[in-house]
Amino acid sequence: RHEMIDHARLVMRDNDRGTYTVPTHGLYPFQWNWDSALSALGFSHFDEARAWQELTTLMAHQWADGMVPHIIFHRPDDGYFPGPEVWGTGHTPPTSGITQPAVAGFAVARIHARAHDKVLADEQARALLPKIHAWHQWFYRCRDPQGTGLVAVLHPWETGRDNSVDWDAAFERVPTEGVAPFTRRDTTHANPAHRPTDDQYKRYIWLVQTFRALGWDNSKLHDASPFQMVDPGFNAILIRSCNDIADLAERLGLDDIAVQSRDMARRGLDAMETLWNDRLGQYACLDRTTGDLLDSPSIGGILAAFAPIPKARAAALSQRVEVLSHSCNYLVPSHDPTSPDFEGLRYWRGPVWLIVNFMIADGLEQAGETAMVPRIVGDCLALIEDSGFAEYHDPITAEPCGGAHFTWTAAMVIELLY
Ligand code: DGY
Repeated sequence: RHEMIDHARLVMRDNDRGTYTVPTHGLYPFQWNWDSALSALGFSHFDEARAWQELTTLMAHQWADGMVPHIIFHRPDDGYFPGPEVWGTGHTPPTSGITQPAVAGFAVARIHARAHDKVLADEQARALLPKIHAWHQWFYRCRDPQGTGLVAVLHPWETGRDNSVDWDAAFERVPTEGVAPFTRRDTTHANPAHRPTDDQYKRYIWLVQTFRALGWDNSKLHDASPFQMVDPGFNAILIRSCNDIADLAERLGLDDIAVQSRDMARRGLDAMETLWNDRLGQYACLDRTTGDLLDSPSIGGILAAFAPIPKARAAALSQRVEVLSHSCNYLVPSHDPTSPDFEGLRYWRGPVWLIVNFMIADGLEQAGETAMVPRIVGDCLALIEDSGFAEYHDPITAEPCGGAHFTWTAAMVIELLY
């Protein structure tokens, strides 16, 4: 155990750039939004000040409208595509123009709750909460213009689950015409068989070019996008963060934030019910452009356990994880291994991700549905022991995939072992 923690700390130290961490050297040489928030959990066990710094740096690059970008390009590095010139957001330092799962609110609340330095924690939480709250309000204002209670993502990169099977049908409607020629860089750092396809990349870039042509104006992007996906996992993270910062704001006497956050969480939770897919026995994505509830058995619908969903739903998701345990060796695969679309090595089409496992396990535990939790946690540690601190792993063979020496993987090991 001590050896594993020491190794994890070494990984985090190597990727530490002083005020922020990079996910891994080479493949991802900048600051990523949800990577940072989850990595802060790891830091908080051995350096609380550094954990707060990670979150403070992230929130310092919030846009005036409340959006918190998914990449902050602190220092130039031409080893990554698409770089600042492709995004063209006009920010200094440059940032991307889309967001990522709103896990920062949860991270602030969790780190505050277990902080040893209470004075520092109160001071940091007071500074961070208004910013995180403005981000949450941005989500419901700009990504739920009809007031359904659920937000849509406009780009697969926003979910973090870049090449999930969930997007396949919708991506058929995202064109590739007019995409400027480009050279991918990710496939020089990672095995191309573990990464999205060239065809998917063209569509990713088509969306970026289209949003850029609209001046990254978030009052226009939602309705203009041919890709509007309501992802249960993404919404669950936002709901959990709203609920957790409502608790924390109450404790700190920040009454407006508390009341408004509780209200957003409640409306989100009510609306989550519309994403329940009885046939799959889990939540599923809703394609807002067609109105279809998808039949895709991906991890997005299980990650919904992270929100304070009704007890019966949490029990059903625990049961779903149990069923998945019969078709893989390491829980929780990002796509159902019995589905014909499953690919064990390819990014979000099958591999296991420790960060997702952590959120599912935490949610099930909060709900009192603990039957599968030891198995999920045990599988995380077994993967690291067998195959190292990889970005993700094959759920059947444990083969390490994507980038190596990965910050948030290390952070999760620390979080699970402490
Ligand atoms: C990438 O470049 O693969 C990232 O996931 C996009 O944020």
